[in-house]
Amino acid sequence: MQQTPQFSSDTTLITGASSGIGEALAMLYAQPGAHLILWGRSPTRLAKVAKNAAQRGATTECYSLDLTETNTALEQLRHNDTQTPISRLILAAGLGDIRKDGALTEAPSLVHELCLVNFTTPATLATEMADRMAKRGGGEIAFLGSVAAFHDLPMSTAYSGSKAGLARFSTALHAAMAPHHVSVTLISPGYVDTPMSQRLSGHLPFLVSPDKAAQKIKRAIARKKIHLIFPWPFAVFAFLESHLPRPIVHRLLRLSNVQQTPRDSKSTDA
Ligand SMILES: NC(=O)c1ccc[n+]([C@@H]2O[C@H](COP(=O)([O-])OP(=O)(O)OC[C@H]3O[C@@H](n4cnc5c(N)ncnc54)[C@H](OP(=O)(O)O)[C@@H]3O)[C@@H](O)[C@H]2O)c1
Repeated sequence: MQQTPQFSSDTTLITGASSGIGEALAMLYAQPGAHLILWGRSPTRLAKVAKNAAQRGATTECYSLDLTETNTALEQLRHNDTQTPISRLILAAGLGDIRKDGALTEAPSLVHELCLVNFTTPATLATEMADRMAKRGGGEIAFLGSVAAFHDLPMSTAYSGSKAGLARFSTALHAAMAPHHVSVTLISPGYVDTPMSQRLSGHLPFLVSPDKAAQKIKRAIARKKIHLIFPWPFAVFAFLESHLPRPIVHRLLRLSNVQQTPRDSKSTDA
């Protein structure tokens, strides 16, 4: 699905634009004069997001691709940026998963997939983009991390581990790129009401709507913040965990009994 790209000095590429936070961000950046390059997997949902963005006056392009294929994604990014220089890259796509009830660990294949989607591919894409943006004098890059990065989650080792890697990568890239006028912003949300969190069982404290999350994220990117963590109680939890003895923290975390419905039961192409 493609609407003729036009040159725009306000070009935003969003990964994970077919759902949740990425979709809400696409709606927020959609305005006359803006050009949106929307990536996701589901072509049907991407087309719907593009249609809604076009109604708000933006021009759009959609690309259905799987971020487990890092090199394909990198080639696509180079192609997009050569056609229409990207002024803002928002790496929102992500996968969450929890160890199955009764299992000792997460499945190795799942750990591999999560690391590719949550860390390897976004870090690769951001590196290419940072170099290109720096050479033309500036730009904005944002990563969707998670507060899970700051906790040793025994039931989600791949999720908390991949997001922790992403968090360090983001702040390190910020340190490298600040002198070149490329801002790099790490976003660490708590629970946001999207298909990802709707698969979790139990109470989700301080749940935020995708629209509210998108507004906070857009503001943080515009202000070139290094790190936004929201809602604020999660910043307190992260501080506490980093100051308590680890064996005590681990004992408490092991008590958590969060479950998640399998991805396939909700990830339809609807
Ligand atoms: N929701 C929360 O509570 C929460 C909290 C903290 C952090 N986050 C982070 O926020 C980001 C957005 O999550 P969300 O809540 O908006 O989740 P979501 O509604 O499930 O959306 C996830 C997006 O990532 C895309 N995606 C997943 N795997 C992909 C793959 N292999 N290749 C390409 N695209 C892929 C999905 O594409 P398709 O749907 O087209 O497959 C979808 O657009 C994620 O990085 C997540 O870790 C979310």
